[in-house]
Amino acid sequence: MDFPHLFSPLRMGNLELPNRIVHVPTDISSSHADGEVSERDIAHHADIARGGTGFIIVGATTPDMKTGRPTVTCLVADGDNYIPGLARLAESMHRYGARCAVQLQHPGRQCAIPRYNTLGATDRVLKLPWSAGHEIVYENADEKGKEIREASIAEILELVDLFSEAAWRVKQAGFDAVELHAAHGYLLSEFMSPFLNMRTDRFGGSLENRMRFPLAVVDSIQKKCGHSFPLLVRYSFDEWCEGGRTTEEGLEIARQLERAGCAAVDLSMGMQESAGAGFDPMPYPQGWATYAAAAVKKVVGIPVITSHSLRDPAYCEQILAEGQTDLVGLARQLLADPYWPVKARYGKVKSIRRCISCLGGCWQESLMAQKEIACSINAACGNPAYAQMTRTTKPVQVAVVGGGPAGMEAARIATERGHLVTLFEKAGELGGAMKYVCLVPGKEKMRWYLDWVRDQLVELNVDIRLNHAPTVEELGEFDVVLNATGARSFVPEVAGDTSRVVPFEDAMACPKIACDCYPGGRKLRKLGSRILLWGDSYAATDTAAFLANIGKEVTIVTENPEFAADCEVIHMYVLWKRFAQGDAEVLESRPYPHPVRVLTSTTVVEIRPGEVVLQDKDFVRTTLAVDDVVTCHTRPEVALLGQLREAGVAVLNVGDSVRPRNLYHAVKEGSAFGHEVDEHLLFNPNGAILNDLPLDVLAQLTRETGPSYTARQMAAIAAGHTEEPHA
Ligand SMILES: Cc1cc2nc3c(=O)[nH]c(=O)nc-3n(C[C@H](O)[C@H](O)[C@H](O)COP(=O)(O)O)c2cc1C
Ligand code: SF4
Repeated sequence: MDFPHLFSPLRMGNLELPNRIVHVPTDISSSHADGEVSERDIAHHADIARGGTGFIIVGATTPDMKTGRPTVTCLVADGDNYIPGLARLAESMHRYGARCAVQLQHPGRQCAIPRYNTLGATDRVLKLPWSAGHEIVYENADEKGKEIREASIAEILELVDLFSEAAWRVKQAGFDAVELHAAHGYLLSEFMSPFLNMRTDRFGGSLENRMRFPLAVVDSIQKKCGHSFPLLVRYSFDEWCEGGRTTEEGLEIARQLERAGCAAVDLSMGMQESAGAGFDPMPYPQGWATYAAAAVKKVVGIPVITSHSLRDPAYCEQILAEGQTDLVGLARQLLADPYWPVKARYGKVKSIRRCISCLGGCWQESLMAQKEIACSINAACGNPAYAQMTRTTKPVQVAVVGGGPAGMEAARIATERGHLVTLFEKAGELGGAMKYVCLVPGKEKMRWYLDWVRDQLVELNVDIRLNHAPTVEELGEFDVVLNATGARSFVPEVAGDTSRVVPFEDAMACPKIACDCYPGGRKLRKLGSRILLWGDSYAATDTAAFLANIGKEVTIVTENPEFAADCEVIHMYVLWKRFAQGDAEVLESRPYPHPVRVLTSTTVVEIRPGEVVLQDKDFVRTTLAVDDVVTCHTRPEVALLGQLREAGVAVLNVGDSVRPRNLYHAVKEGSAFGHEVDEHLLFNPNGAILNDLPLDVLAQLTRETGPSYTARQMAAIAAGHTEEPHA
């Protein structure tokens, strides 16, 4: 058998786990507004159980909605009325052989609700931009942050009771275990932290005092649920912050939890103050946190769970075989592909869609934005409709123009559903904007998704036409066309000679002579040493990271008041440190030879040989000596789309050719097209493709009484053209 250790059972307390794969808690913020379990909660967790995860720890569930919900629609367990819903949730996982637990969490200072009168261990103001999902950030507020008030002793004692009441409900609902969230700076973690806890009473100061609250909760749960009901604690082994917890205390806490009768320790890392270690953006390598489990295993006998950036079954197998851990924890990996375990079990490792740690879908576009869970590369995540995807009985001819992420995903899903897809790409390779990112230091994981989707297209035998920009006539032969032509850079209006302004796409030239994308090599665009990057968003952040890393002196100029405001916040946290020639916690990259300067609310008014004239928001002009100007301003590429519409071809537009955005939107829109296209090719007057119409309405629109049209004619009508009925 492949991966024998991964698929061997383990005893945890009196509970037998079928394998070593754990879903470490992930708040999917998909419950009802009152915290009741929703059908989405059930579909999501059932999917993970169906995929073969052995032990599923449901994410942050609050024991007291009144004083703390970590996300606006997290689960709640503060009343007996939640037991039936939780029971259905447990049942949905048991059905597929998984064991399951609920993680109880009081978010304390990091709560989304309530916004005011927020409870914490200590009185302070919290101002962390990536806590936007946990606080309110008004667009033009002078002060961004919220005040936290210190919990009174009476409140602490009440919370001990509320935690154990909630644990009792979890047990009553049929869950196999319960976990306490004492990591990442939330309430229990804040009390335990030498850095965050500034109390001077018996709940602050020494480790004994800091552990008093969590250990009181452990004790109270054991009294209400019995010692045989497995209780796990998740804590940050190292807080990766000056004055915070390090290894010695991390080990001592494990010893104390074992002595207190806990069934296992679930090791995590970091806090909101050490956002890199807490959220693992792309540059964090697989297994960077394994050392902690190996160390804890030497001092306790109870099972140890390690997690953080685990992606490959082979690596997980290796650390289990070497005895570095007892269980491997996956969070985002199971959002990106809940079928990771069963694919590994069947030896289909290549078909695993590895999480690229982009945080774009699961953090930026969902929890940070106070929405339900999503994933940038798995449009099915958080969308149960995908489980109902069916094969078509009447394939249609689909042309997809543009081989970027939107086009590739559309082609993949439409082909899986049985349609006949031709994918046109004017360049010599698929990937669109993604092909540049493998050049950006720290963003290499983007390549994982690119390779995965390209492999899928090859396996599906999609007709891929590279180096082919199709004409309107060619495309008119298809039943429907998907325009996924992406965006391109442009040079805004400016005085002076713009002919030498370099598009960022050319500046991101691969320094390697040849790679698997360019076997014959790629033409290098020679740039001077002082570069002005003009623009914003991912085009500017990625180009800056690439050029600074190869030693260029980079200045970014943007008209926006805040640079990279639409880029994922944790990646920006890392990048700002890199711009200042430093590094985020845990990482040890080679510093850029020069710091990267960013000028906001500034524009370029003239380009002269060897210099540019800049103007700031107060109309003050300065000159800056530069060798090259690179434009990172982008706009949708829509020339073909206009021609197709003009010619009456049925065409839909997705991805950056609608508006330049990010991978999440590209994949979501491409996937939705693949999901929705059917033989009827009906469009509503807004230009949206229709499917799932009520039977009678579908019949009324397509029945052969009155005028009858072919599918292609239907599409032409939808595009606003007059067509003669089919004979
Ligand atoms: C969307 C999201 C929600 C999360 N929710 C929780 C949670 O409820 N409780 C918790 O302990 N950790 C939570 N985490 C942290 C993860 O459990 C995990 O520690 C982290 O994502 C790193 O591991 P990974 O690389 O396997 O994702 C969450 C992470 C993400 C991205
Ligand atoms: S959005 Fe990105 S980080 Fe989150 S699960 Fe998906 S691939 Fe992973």
